[in-house]
Amino acid sequence: MVPPVQHSVDSTHRLSLDPIATPERLLLGPGPSNAHPTVLQALSRSPIGHLDPLYIELMGEVQELLRYAWQTDNRLTIPMSGTGSAAMEATLANTVEPGDTVLVAVKGYFGLRLADMAGRYGARVVTIECPWGEAFSLNQIEEALASHKPTILAMVHAETSTGVCQPMEGIGDLCRQHDCLLLLDTVTSLGGVPLFLDDWKVDLAYSCSQKGLSCPPGLGPFTMGPRAEVKLAARSGKVPNWYLDVSLLNQYWGSDRVYHHTAPVNMNFGMREALRLLADEGLENAWARHRSNAERLWAGLERLGLELHVREDLRLPTLTTVRIPEGVDGKAFSRHLLDRHGIEVGGGLGALAGKVWRIGLMGYNSRPENVDLLLNLIETELPAFRSAAAAMAAVA
Ligand SMILES: Cc1ncc(COP(=O)(O)O)c(C=O)c1O
Repeated sequence: MVPPVQHSVDSTHRLSLDPIATPERLLLGPGPSNAHPTVLQALSRSPIGHLDPLYIELMGEVQELLRYAWQTDNRLTIPMSGTGSAAMEATLANTVEPGDTVLVAVKGYFGLRLADMAGRYGARVVTIECPWGEAFSLNQIEEALASHKPTILAMVHAETSTGVCQPMEGIGDLCRQHDCLLLLDTVTSLGGVPLFLDDWKVDLAYSCSQKGLSCPPGLGPFTMGPRAEVKLAARSGKVPNWYLDVSLLNQYWGSDRVYHHTAPVNMNFGMREALRLLADEGLENAWARHRSNAERLWAGLERLGLELHVREDLRLPTLTTVRIPEGVDGKAFSRHLLDRHGIEVGGGLGALAGKVWRIGLMGYNSRPENVDLLLNLIETELPAFRSAAAAMAAVA
């Protein structure tokens, strides 16, 4: 008989830590945004079982409120367990089959991510691109649909990397004419910017919990319309991602309530509360609030002599890109805001790295007092971050 091996515990990785104590931050960057206090209360409730009848009732409420937030009647509307990228992946994993042509309209960083993901599911990916800070015209979309004949057109509604909101009128009709599904990223628009998924004839969409919904990161709302359901049902093979397979997930979220994975119940408590707050405020009021606070920010920044990166009619109310003035160390200033004032603003991504700051006013954080606080700090403390030459030029 082999003698039992004696194991002894190695304490190399045993840290001795104090209980967590995070600082209060005002998150005015690209996300996450601060969660609403009552959402935080909901998150900290004791978990209940994920098949408990009370939880099952809550699941139905979350689905119905998501339909309201998105303005859709889609049956398959589910908060995916995971962040926005998981829900993004779910839209592609369920509908792309090897050899399908996916046309991605890239106008920033997250369009590139869509193209990367579609390729991983075996799609023949074709892209059309426009400069970072601009949007696509209907003509550009129509030409690309006609010449590439894709099965899916994927695009980002609210491009968080550039601060552009893509006008959507007419795109869904073009997709129907070209027998193609329309897939839309609404990560930085849900809850903050007008969205009419059914009127716009969007077949697949996804979002996140941590921006316009005033919830922490952790859930990725997902929705699939009837035309996309037909494509899913006609697949020749299984969905190549077990965790995100909507036909399996719908056995839990639909009427069967069959276990798929252990739902993050507390995240869904938070989501229910976030969506309840949104319904209580009313979509039109929430959209108008985001718009008026963004306009207050835009006017204030321009008054201080700063230049906005996106022309007004394409500007996103939830995220503003403002150009870092010549001679200013943009990173040093945002670091100063964080260290001295506990305020986070974002830097540029990809083609805009080092060129812009990204200021988010999303969900609970879209409030005039936050705008005024930030404008005041920019006015009084930014001058110290200008190089001597830039300061002289500014005075001149
Ligand atoms: C437009 C857009 N799409 C997708 C994502 C990915 O979401 P997540 O980071 O929650 O995975 C983000 C994240 O900020 C985003 O802004």
